[in-house]
Amino acid sequence: MAGNIILETERLFLREFDEGDVVPFFRMGSEPAVIRYTGDPPGGLTSLEQALEVLRSRPIADYQKYGYGRWACVLKANTEVIGFAGLKYLADSHEVDIGYRFLPTYWGQGLATEACRAVLDYGRNRLGLERIIGLVHPENVASVRILEKLGLTPDGQVEYQGRRFAKYVIETRGTT
Ligand SMILES: CC(C)(COP(=O)(O)OP(=O)(O)OC[C@H]1O[C@@H](n2cnc3c(N)ncnc32)[C@H](O)[C@@H]1OP(=O)(O)O)[C@@H](O)C(=O)NCCC(=O)NCCS
Repeated sequence: MAGNIILETERLFLREFDEGDVVPFFRMGSEPAVIRYTGDPPGGLTSLEQALEVLRSRPIADYQKYGYGRWACVLKANTEVIGFAGLKYLADSHEVDIGYRFLPTYWGQGLATEACRAVLDYGRNRLGLERIIGLVHPENVASVRILEKLGLTPDGQVEYQGRRFAKYVIETRGTT
């Protein structure tokens, strides 16, 4: 399998993206249902070339710079990249943000929650992070629900990339 495996859950592998993931990454950044609430530029990604550039400059650059980032979620059942979940260091606010998105075919099966529980545990126990935030459009009810299930609580609103988001937070004291 391409890319370093970071985490394994019951139904998923979470591994680092590499350039070979450009097609699923393009779909995650261009399908209207997926980017409806994410704060991506209007219309999302418009070409595979642009997707490759974003792949290089965001998740792949983040692994090199910070040692973590958004990770590709590979469904064990069909070995396809069906989404991403992971942590992102926000240089402006010095916060670490949990983020996730999946292709619509796979919604409603608890996969995002499954991936995010593993990501949160990794942030807490492997990276030693004491605080993780989530930024969400308030109308994105499925995403708000995930943050609530993970134990994050509302902490006001913030402006991110020109849009207002609800901010959720969890203090993550290490357990191991
Ligand atoms: C948000 C997203 C990742 C959820 O993925 P998923 O795998 O379907 O999520 P899960 O099944 O783990 O959990 C979703 C929860 O929201 C609930 N939910 C989903 N749609 C809902 C709705 N319209 N109203 C109320 N609750 C809803 C589900 O019932 C579930 O909660 P439950 O376990 O208590 O029943 C997926 O919809 C997605 O990729 N959206 C586009 C990208 C995005 O918005 N990412 C988040 C940016 S902040």
